[in-house]
Amino acid sequence: MKKTIRDFDLNNKKVIIRVDFNVPVKDNKILDDNRIVMSLKTINYALDKGAKVILMSHLGRIKEEKDKEKNSLEIVAKRLSELLNREVKFINNTRGKELEQAINNLNFGEVLLMQNTRFEDLDGKKESSNDLELGKYWSSLGDIFINDAFGTSHRSHASNVGIASNLESGIGFLIEEEIEKLKLATDNPEKPFAVILGGAKVSDKIGVIKNLVDICDYILIGGGMVYTFLKSIGYNIGNSLLDSDSLEFCKEMLAKYNDKIILPVDSIVSKEFDKDITLKNNDCFDDDDIGLDIGQKSIEIFKNKLKDCNTVIWNGPLGYSEIEKYSNGTKEILKYLSDKDKIVIIGGGDTASAAINFGYKGAFTHISTGGGASLELLEGKKLPGIEIIDEK
Ligand code: 3PG
Repeated sequence: MKKTIRDFDLNNKKVIIRVDFNVPVKDNKILDDNRIVMSLKTINYALDKGAKVILMSHLGRIKEEKDKEKNSLEIVAKRLSELLNREVKFINNTRGKELEQAINNLNFGEVLLMQNTRFEDLDGKKESSNDLELGKYWSSLGDIFINDAFGTSHRSHASNVGIASNLESGIGFLIEEEIEKLKLATDNPEKPFAVILGGAKVSDKIGVIKNLVDICDYILIGGGMVYTFLKSIGYNIGNSLLDSDSLEFCKEMLAKYNDKIILPVDSIVSKEFDKDITLKNNDCFDDDDIGLDIGQKSIEIFKNKLKDCNTVIWNGPLGYSEIEKYSNGTKEILKYLSDKDKIVIIGGGDTASAAINFGYKGAFTHISTGGGASLELLEGKKLPGIEIIDEK
């Protein structure tokens, strides 16, 4: 068992908390603050216990100098301050005197957020390559390290693995809950157990399919992935998304798990993206049709399979759900699952955004804050950002 924030005496301690504030930002506005909201419990706990709280996070990917401007954490500090209802000092540095001085000047029971850890990537990818000197330096800023950045825990970076290698460490409440809830689907799930997979590319989900196909009762396929599966068994998919490298995999899976892998039988198609839509059966596609959502018959088939399932895990929207006209499949299945007495885990990323944006935030057993991280857990992989944390 990993140590948790509860296992430490935080009073009068400098506590570094690695959070995942990698939130979508457009035109200097945060589009979805769920990751910030979900980190409040850990931050408030540390503040209430009398710690000096030093927050670290990345935002976006920093490849060149101009990426810094749109990936500053300053707006996140403002939002966090509103949510915490207290001042959050923002330090526009990732190292050096100003940062160290700010930490010295911080009182116990106060919180600061330092600038985007990935700004260090401009100097030889120091953060992303887990540069030893950087991890050591950051660890020197605190007494205790708490990792609560579940969304980043599949990365081995200086701000998670690097710091934890040099400091006493534990997990925060968010990671604790993610592990506990995702386990409901990965460790002896209550059967019947259905896995819903969507999103664009089959190749992104091969690991999950391989890991879960033998323990689940159904894998329901939606999203752009559908068309590679259909093509592999001879359907004309028109101009729909094709992941050619995965054709052989799809064919093999359908041959071996014919009763388990459930494909849609109809789709919402357009000739051009975001133009007029038509409902078509799988065998009616024209050469210029693009499949962009599952159709009504498929929705009914999916509901029918889900009806008796006790556990459902869902990763990947069933259509191009950011566009209203292609969002019906995702919405209908969200609605159907939301009022059922089942364990329903929404596996992060785009599916989490869809569930929250369509109004189902509190409706399920769990909505993960991790996209890639939750996917890797479902693939049966160990997450380095969690593995490195001290055992009890
Ligand atoms: C995420 O959003 O999946 C995490 O914050 C990790 O971000 P990354 O894919 O840029 O490493």
